Amino acid sequence: MQAFDMKRKYMYNFSSYEELSYVCRTNNWDIALSKDTSVLSEKRPVIKTRSGQVELSCPITIHPMEGFDGLEDGTPSELTKRRWLRFSGSGASLIWSEAISVVPEGRTNDHQLMITEDNLDVYKELISEMKKNSDAPVIAQLTHSGRMSKNSATKTPLFITRNLEYERVRPGDKDVEPVSDEYLSSLPEKYAEAAKLAVKAGFDGVDIKACHGYLLGESLSAYNREGIYGGSYINRTRLYRECFDAVVSAVPDNIIIGARFGLSDMIKYPYGFGVTKDEIPQPDFTEPVKLLKECVEKGLGVIDMTMGSPYFNSYINRPANMGPYVFVEHPLAGVARLENAGYVVKQAIPELCLIGTGYSYLKEQAIYAAAGLLNENRADCVGFGRMAFAYEGFANDMKNGFMDKNKSCISCGKCTEIMRAGGTTGCPIRDQQIYLPIYRKLCMHKED
Ligand SMILES: Cc1cc2nc3c(=O)[nH]c(=O)nc-3n(C[C@H](O)[C@H](O)[C@H](O)COP(=O)(O)O)c2cc1C
Ligand code: SF4
Repeated sequence: MQAFDMKRKYMYNFSSYEELSYVCRTNNWDIALSKDTSVLSEKRPVIKTRSGQVELSCPITIHPMEGFDGLEDGTPSELTKRRWLRFSGSGASLIWSEAISVVPEGRTNDHQLMITEDNLDVYKELISEMKKNSDAPVIAQLTHSGRMSKNSATKTPLFITRNLEYERVRPGDKDVEPVSDEYLSSLPEKYAEAAKLAVKAGFDGVDIKACHGYLLGESLSAYNREGIYGGSYINRTRLYRECFDAVVSAVPDNIIIGARFGLSDMIKYPYGFGVTKDEIPQPDFTEPVKLLKECVEKGLGVIDMTMGSPYFNSYINRPANMGPYVFVEHPLAGVARLENAGYVVKQAIPELCLIGTGYSYLKEQAIYAAAGLLNENRADCVGFGRMAFAYEGFANDMKNGFMDKNKSCISCGKCTEIMRAGGTTGCPIRDQQIYLPIYRKLCMHKED
């Protein structure tokens, strides 16, 4: 077994398929690997809509990747446009847009995107530019940042329930009251309005996001909240179901209905969704699968699966090689957990198109894991986040059977560091001209 030291930063160099395969095998990390990568250009997954289906050109997709570079009114800036156009020119078959807030007070910060009647034309123009690069469907991720809202429209975070686990890392939340039922019941309409605007702008799909500790994700674990939005399964899923239904009724039948969906928060009960009641929580997919099945019946066609929270246990959500965190497990154990969670759901709901996640950690060896995942039908698509920041044209290269190690993401966590510092983020390693000065200033406190 290859030894690893929890106190050290992980700097494994999987320089070949054989090395990666050996380390996974000897540590019992169940990650499917395949040397035959032809599936990456051959498989053409299908997403069901209420009136038919959308066929993707290949199984490689782009995860939502936020740059926090919108203008103050939520309009995409030149940097936002640059990122989205790079994504649409990457060779990926589906672009899942970054978080777009449905209300001003629900923005992570004043640079998070927000779609309104006033800026609709800018989104329209951007989508139409993207379509010149490829016919990849573009999905609008609709969100309310809830506890993570920090913007000029609200003085306090907007959360659903007291959460002692989050309060350990966000002590300021202790002094704030959860939002009212009245406020929550106003949101389905806001989601529907944003969805209608997204369709007008030319998005091919909408995502009713439920993950990462943001409002709708958090509502699913509101075990301790009193009233109609807390306690029982029916109450905890009420807000999500209401927003979901409102969006579905607001958009035409041929629009893709998607969800960025957290299959397990991996936060101790009663503060996390999809977990066992053990002291050290394990995933329990009973409720997530139940909710997803209900949504599939109402039109959900695709999930971009995820787990954990970038604010609480980011190693679950995005296994990394380095970072300012205490590592509690080997990142490959994290990749295996994500893959196996997706596989459980894929087997439980085969008709739902499932996008796998967490593969940027594998750097240029990700091509073998992507091919393995798809060859073993553990997911329908493989999504990439950090890799898409770092490696322009990565999907085209993957389809041609190779990845350039000098262009790959090295999973160093610097893009996440900038995000946590509240800055405009991207890849300071591979896209240095723009993002290295930002990293140096915000995270290293150095002026160039
Ligand atoms: C800088 C940064 C921004 C992100 N923005 C979003 C976002 O807007 N919405 C979302 O659902 N996930 C977001 N994510 C999570 C990614 O979509 C993805 O789940 C994660 O990076 C793991 O995939 P990867 O290993 O390919 O990077 C973000 C991640 C990073 C590092
Ligand atoms: S900063 Fe660049 S290389 Fe590092 S994790 Fe982010 S995308 Fe990957």
